[in-house]
Amino acid sequence: MIFDVLTLFPSVIKAYTGESILKRAIEKGIITVNVYNIRDYTEDKHRQVDDYPYGGGSGMVLKVEPVYNCICQINRDGRRRYKILLSPGGRLFTQKVAEEFSQRHEHILLICGRYEGVDERVKNFIDEEVSIGDYVLTGGELPALVIIDAVTRLLPGALGDESSLREESFTTGLLEYPQYTRPVEFMGMKVPEILLSGNHGLIRRWRRKEALRRTLKQRPDLLEALELSEEDRVLIKEIKEEEKWT
Ligand code: ADE
Repeated sequence: MIFDVLTLFPSVIKAYTGESILKRAIEKGIITVNVYNIRDYTEDKHRQVDDYPYGGGSGMVLKVEPVYNCICQINRDGRRRYKILLSPGGRLFTQKVAEEFSQRHEHILLICGRYEGVDERVKNFIDEEVSIGDYVLTGGELPALVIIDAVTRLLPGALGDESSLREESFTTGLLEYPQYTRPVEFMGMKVPEILLSGNHGLIRRWRRKEALRRTLKQRPDLLEALELSEEDRVLIKEIKEEEKWT
């Protein structure tokens, strides 16, 4: 998977992709991250990337020409890219969208907006606007990194253990069960006895129950979209009795 990132702050993108799992994914050749500084594609001597909004108002607007020039330059190799503008008004990015991107595209171009906005005409040169949530950030760098991160970890070989993908939140439709590691007791807080029992059947059932309990408490909306098994119904009944819910 190739990511092209158009930004005014290349070092922000390079810092995060230069560490940990993404760094290893790059080293293993699973992803390539090309970072382009939009300022390098200006044509005036002041290298101006933003300007005042027509019609007045506060703040500056990212200019269309440097973004367009940058896209044209990148497009010269003739490769097909899926072009995304990061913007709070775009389609909401979820685990499902991450899966869609990882399966449908081999090459994604991400344009990081900045300042108070982006010239509307940039939208003529993209495939889609994407938002990472209903809040406004100062720029598209964090959203671009969120997308790169969430998509990369779905690619074969990016994580050491592929089974960790299958069991995790949002893939199973439930929040994850509680995890523990050594020590067995910390400040009087003990690891649940069942996890030390070695009984895999009981451990599996306990984990399913605790995932259901956590989801019921923290994200009941997720349960509504889920098809429950007979065992799930029994577990939920037990949880409701234990929690004294009616
Ligand atoms: N730019 C500013 N806020 C954003 C958001 N929530 N998602 C994507 N891009 C953004």
